[in-house]
Amino acid sequence: MISIIPSILVPDKKTFLTNYTGLGDSVSMIQLDIADGKFVPNATWADPKTVSDTVKTNVELHLMVNDPVAEMKKWVYVRQVTRVLIHVESPHEVAETIRKAKQINWEIGLVLNPNTPTSVLHDFLDDIDLVMFMGVYPGFQGQEFIPETCDRITQTKAKGITLPISVDGGVNEKTIPALVQSGVDIICPGSAVFGNDKTPAENILALQQLVV
Ligand code: DX5
Repeated sequence: MISIIPSILVPDKKTFLTNYTGLGDSVSMIQLDIADGKFVPNATWADPKTVSDTVKTNVELHLMVNDPVAEMKKWVYVRQVTRVLIHVESPHEVAETIRKAKQINWEIGLVLNPNTPTSVLHDFLDDIDLVMFMGVYPGFQGQEFIPETCDRITQTKAKGITLPISVDGGVNEKTIPALVQSGVDIICPGSAVFGNDKTPAENILALQQLVV
């Protein structure tokens, strides 16, 4: 069974609350995108207090930032956060960031951009809980899915890596069939959930039909 974790990338609190409440009780976890305008050419709104006060689901933080440790410190007290997703390309010491996340007792996902070789995973496999492949270059919602992402998932599974594999970026009704074939475990759609006239809950329901 493939899980759906909607990806929320927003410019302000109002949009966050609209997106989040629109999900109703359709999901048990959300992904909150945090971008600093440096690691990626976009900056997002993400406020620990608002999440702490309003969110009823679990939360995973997708850190598209140059300094993941500084960002993690802001979220330590937010009980909804159970997992952090850190980019291997960001200019930080990955092993040290993983160590810090473990101290907080969060699950750790390592994130790879489309052009990052999957061989980088090998040094970290024993210390992480999940691998997330980007289906686009991160920063903005609504970009076109890079189809080779499916091959990267298939090849990673074929190497015997048993960690759950997640994909973020360009996940929608058109790309889900190939992703299902690839063996992906978790999909993280953004604009397919929040970027059309239907409610987020309706969109989640429709996408769920495609992954059963
Ligand atoms: C991409 C972000 C994604 C984004 C996904 O820059 O990291 O998490 O929210 O949005 P879609 O599904 O529209 O590509």
